[in-house]
Amino acid sequence: MARRIGILTSGGDAPGMNAVVRAVARAGLQRGMEVCGIRRGYVGLLNGDVFEMDERTVSGVIQRGGTFLYTARCPEFRNMEGVKKGYDMCKKLGLEGLVVVGGDGSFRGAGDLSSLGIPCIGIPGTIDNDIQCTEYTIGYDTAMNTAMEMIDKICDTTQSHDRCSVVEVMGRKAGYIAVNVGIAVGAEAVITLEEPYDLNEIADKMMQAKKHGKTHFLIVVAEGVGQTDVIARTIQEMTGMESRVTVLGHVQRGGSPTVRDRVLATEMGYHAVELLDQGIGNRIVGLKDGKVYDIDLQEGLAMKKEFLHNRYEILKKTTF
Ligand code: ADP
Ligand code: F6P
Repeated sequence: MARRIGILTSGGDAPGMNAVVRAVARAGLQRGMEVCGIRRGYVGLLNGDVFEMDERTVSGVIQRGGTFLYTARCPEFRNMEGVKKGYDMCKKLGLEGLVVVGGDGSFRGAGDLSSLGIPCIGIPGTIDNDIQCTEYTIGYDTAMNTAMEMIDKICDTTQSHDRCSVVEVMGRKAGYIAVNVGIAVGAEAVITLEEPYDLNEIADKMMQAKKHGKTHFLIVVAEGVGQTDVIARTIQEMTGMESRVTVLGHVQRGGSPTVRDRVLATEMGYHAVELLDQGIGNRIVGLKDGKVYDIDLQEGLAMKKEFLHNRYEILKKTTF
């Protein structure tokens, strides 16, 4: 039912956001909708920084990292006065629906705007995979592959110098990137907020392995633990092995998206347009049992996400 829709990217950028924008623009235009790009998330919505998109606007963006719509954090949108300003701007611009690509903070803004009468659809775009109601968030796969490639390189030098490398990966408070990447690079230990850990136990195992000829070690730490330097120092004191810290940082947020990110971004973007075309808003699009689905926005945000406990157990039982 919505004939004129907008799309914005909000919060931290993630590889694959451009693929979502492309899918929304192309699917919307093919249905005869007018599609507007909104720059810098809710900041652009409040300022009316909006432009009309046509099929060519999104040419050649599917392979690009970052977001060509730019992104921003907008403190003003956290209170209802700001949201009301956003509503007024939607009315002024004739926007009858909005697609918001971002994390759970961005979805809360989308929920508030929906409650005022602008149907909004949230699409999960964050490398952290920390959104409760979806098995997958756009950008996660690319970030993990980047982290894996970087750590493989670190391992070459770790090996040459008989060292222990302690590598911090992103994820905000969540350890999804850490566990998967830890398995993929053959880490000796992965430390996350979700699982208990014991540095004495890790150090003892390292000493045992050293006795049996192992010369180098790798420990992956999720940034949410907030103790990467302390962990490296403690391991060095306990084992006598030179331990070096690498914080991978924003390299994990960049780069050309993987096939998985491009395909899911396209499917999710298409699904969002289908919903808005039916006049449906206040939904989050996600992945459940490997299929794209949608769920009530508030219900989705209230869900609790299971951690990868089984995978973590497998990791522990396939190392050292
Ligand atoms: P993410 O979307 O990745 O979780 P943030 O938490 O920084 O990132 O949120 C992005 C933007 O979403 C914020 O700058 C703000 O404009 C909006 N937002 C965040 N939390 C809320 C909230 N509780 N209510 C309304 N808008 C919010
Ligand atoms: O949410 C994505 C993320 O990269 C997190 O992994 C990290 O904690 C945070 O954003 C960093 O945010 P900023 O780029 O604002 O420092």
